[in-house]
Amino acid sequence: MKKTMPSDWPERMALDRAHIWHPFTQMKLHEVDPPTAVVGGEGSDLLLADGRRVLDGISSWWTNLHGHGHPRLVGAIERQGARLDHVIFAGFTHQPAIDLVARLQPKLPPVLTRCFFSDNGSTAVEVALKMAFQAQVQKGQTGRSRFGALRGGYHGDTLGAVGVGELENWLTGIFRPLLLHCERLQVPEDPRREIGVDLASWPETLEAARKALRDFFATHGEALAAFIAEPLLQGAAGMRMWPPEMLLELRLQCDRYGVYLILDEVMTGFGRTGTLLACEQAPVAPDLLCLSKGLTGGILPLSLTWATEEIYGCFLAEPHEGKAFLHGHSFTANPMACAAANASLALFDEEPVLERAQALGAVLRESWSRLAQHPAIRQARTLGTVAAAQMVDPATGMPHLPEAAFGWKLHRRALDYGLLVRPMGDCLYLLPPLSTDPGRIAEAVETIAKLL
Ligand SMILES: Cc1ncc(COP(=O)(O)O)c(C=O)c1O
Repeated sequence: MKKTMPSDWPERMALDRAHIWHPFTQMKLHEVDPPTAVVGGEGSDLLLADGRRVLDGISSWWTNLHGHGHPRLVGAIERQGARLDHVIFAGFTHQPAIDLVARLQPKLPPVLTRCFFSDNGSTAVEVALKMAFQAQVQKGQTGRSRFGALRGGYHGDTLGAVGVGELENWLTGIFRPLLLHCERLQVPEDPRREIGVDLASWPETLEAARKALRDFFATHGEALAAFIAEPLLQGAAGMRMWPPEMLLELRLQCDRYGVYLILDEVMTGFGRTGTLLACEQAPVAPDLLCLSKGLTGGILPLSLTWATEEIYGCFLAEPHEGKAFLHGHSFTANPMACAAANASLALFDEEPVLERAQALGAVLRESWSRLAQHPAIRQARTLGTVAAAQMVDPATGMPHLPEAAFGWKLHRRALDYGLLVRPMGDCLYLLPPLSTDPGRIAEAVETIAKLL
């Protein structure tokens, strides 16, 4: 594959190195190993500046649904930009936002009737946390100043979201003195997602986990404003797949103790787990629902926090009572982002997007089952169009030493073989656009096997 930069790129890369601070990156690494320059996107592929074409095996940070450069989405943005590019959303409204809620609401659990706009997954979570707390206070529950969350959870990088995420890691631990009060609950992984696992002890494990959840609420339930969870799939925890039965139990206990249930479907939403929302698989309806990433087909920043009528009602009062939800962002409900979301939802209505995703998921599971036999792989598992496994050193059966940077090297080599994968620590995963041709995915898994 061609791997030389066109002549105008070295200078640009020098400017990148001189001025750009990339996210989630130890920038010292880029002094020797610069970021990969991307010049185009076509369907499930990304085109790199040096001529390589790679399958976007991580949907560009878990966002892309219908492929890159989809004419329906790009056209909708262009038309909307020419008509109305942006306008303040406090005291104003516009058609793309209204169309979006009208199109989406019937697809959601019916209790979710009120929609608050913001612009990324973290802010959708911040909004939900603040709404839950303020609603509790405004209905007289002033002692509920804590949140509940799952161990290993990830809800974004703003401080509120960090406060309900996992703290026992290098990413967030340093911020501990600044964070919300949060009580954390461990849930077991769902062995039925794993390939070739003996399920004999599962009923017992599940029952013990249910009891631990009930105990957790007996201890903390009265002090919690809300409990937040990524339903069925904890992405940044390393694609940890957990059982729908636990989600049902969580709903029951939240109801019992008057705790709002916030479901963060920022990553799982829009078909990623095989259904439009992951919570449908329990089935469970949250009090607050956070959506982003795939909302615009994964191509523009936009997020929604949906709330129940009961929560909304806690904020209705005379202006002088000071009960309004005083929160907003400059780009709240950006019309072009809303237009992209409308075009994406139209594709769900007009094309068999979910059915295709299910077919892709089936091929992914079949290919992943073969990969599960590889000596460098453990705990191979899938859920919808997401497949994950732990990488080990075949000589020892143990995880690779962090200093070996095995995942990073795999990422770099895979680009030469036409594939973008980006392991998180020991966790190797594939999370392609829903529109990816199943044949390409089978090839991608073979490529991974070769590289391992
Ligand atoms: C479950 C979940 N919630 C929230 C976020 C934060 O979203 P954003 O990066 O758009 O702020 C992410 C990002 O990966 C996520 O996976």
